[in-house]
Amino acid sequence: MAERILVTGGAGFIGSNFVRYWVDRHPDDAVVAFDVLTYAGNRPNLAAVEDRIAFVQGDIGDLEGVTATLAEHEIDIIVNFAAESHVDRSILDPEAFLRTGVIGVHVLLDACRAEAAARAAGPRPAPRYLQVSTDEVYGSVETGRSVETDALAPRSPYAAAKAAGELLVRSYVVTHGVDAVVTRGSNTYGPYHHPEKLIPLFVTNALEDRPLPLYGDGLQQRDWLFVTDHAGAIETVLRRGQAGETYNIPGSAELTNREVVRQLLEALGKPSSNVPFIMPKRVADTDAFKQIEDYTGSGPYIFKRDEYKPGDKAVYLKADRNLAYGVVVETMDTLNRLGVESLGMVTELRSEGAP
Ligand SMILES: NC(=O)c1ccc[n+]([C@@H]2O[C@H](COP(=O)([O-])OP(=O)(O)OC[C@H]3O[C@@H](n4cnc5c(N)ncnc54)[C@H](O)[C@@H]3O)[C@@H](O)[C@H]2O)c1
Repeated sequence: MAERILVTGGAGFIGSNFVRYWVDRHPDDAVVAFDVLTYAGNRPNLAAVEDRIAFVQGDIGDLEGVTATLAEHEIDIIVNFAAESHVDRSILDPEAFLRTGVIGVHVLLDACRAEAAARAAGPRPAPRYLQVSTDEVYGSVETGRSVETDALAPRSPYAAAKAAGELLVRSYVVTHGVDAVVTRGSNTYGPYHHPEKLIPLFVTNALEDRPLPLYGDGLQQRDWLFVTDHAGAIETVLRRGQAGETYNIPGSAELTNREVVRQLLEALGKPSSNVPFIMPKRVADTDAFKQIEDYTGSGPYIFKRDEYKPGDKAVYLKADRNLAYGVVVETMDTLNRLGVESLGMVTELRSEGAP
């Protein structure tokens, strides 16, 4: 029987890949993409399937809009990708993460519960809900792989909001009998990825011969999952997952960020001298962070003192709280234009290599 599927966050990276995946494999199904279109949502991501799907612009936090969509399209399956998804932004502005990741998930679950009740006497079964979560809910895993029963130990407001969303799902299964499952996917990459994310950012910077901003020593491991594999695993969980259960979706491709960079540069035929900047810690002073980010456009290029090589165009900054930062500048004028001195964060300047 043809199914009717609602993909919330369907204009984002994984959501739009999932919509294309579903339309390709289930051409008789009715697919509704539902998205509020934040900066990360992009309608052209769906251009290839535009005439084969319905699109609703709406917010998952709007109960009326969600309820009307479920009823109007007689939805059988809801896959929720909608989220604020950029970890660094969650440090600057956590509220948006909570609105979508917690209140939005609550609204979707409540609408599912009401729709199930409305259908109780009719032929259509209650809708099935799948919450797309992330392995970031486990926090930092030093050795081995996380299993679903491990404790949740989120380390960013993003991951905390995702963990909260999962717990809400569980509570609706237990309390209201909503038919819902959760997946925890690894770091996903592939076509239509937003250019602020690691792989597309590094690819575009490398293509333009710009430096690649790596966090820390670049030795953090991440498990990489190709987006179509992620979509396929979500379908498997939709078909075979047990209500109330959570399923990891690993990529089984663990690489340090340095190794990712090495492989990208090799694939692009670019020299490894494109990777000079290492950031010791996230910038604590958010105003300074914003100004530097505004200037660089794609995140601050910051490096650890002992990684600095004479000849690099850089200026050392030493900020409050004993965190040492550097920011790439072309000239001293640029630094002045950045206004970092006026932020009172510069106590030491060195301009080796900067003209
Ligand atoms: N990217 C990854 O590596 C990864 C890994 C595992 C899990 N996930 C999860 O998968 C989901 C999708 O991630 P992504 O990388 O595609 O993110 P994305 O930022 O590219 O897409 C999110 C989409 O949700 C939409 N959205 C945001 N708030 C909304 C709201 N209130 N109502 C309706 N739509 C809203 C945005 O407009 C955007 O289109 C997220 O829930 C994320 O936590 C991502």
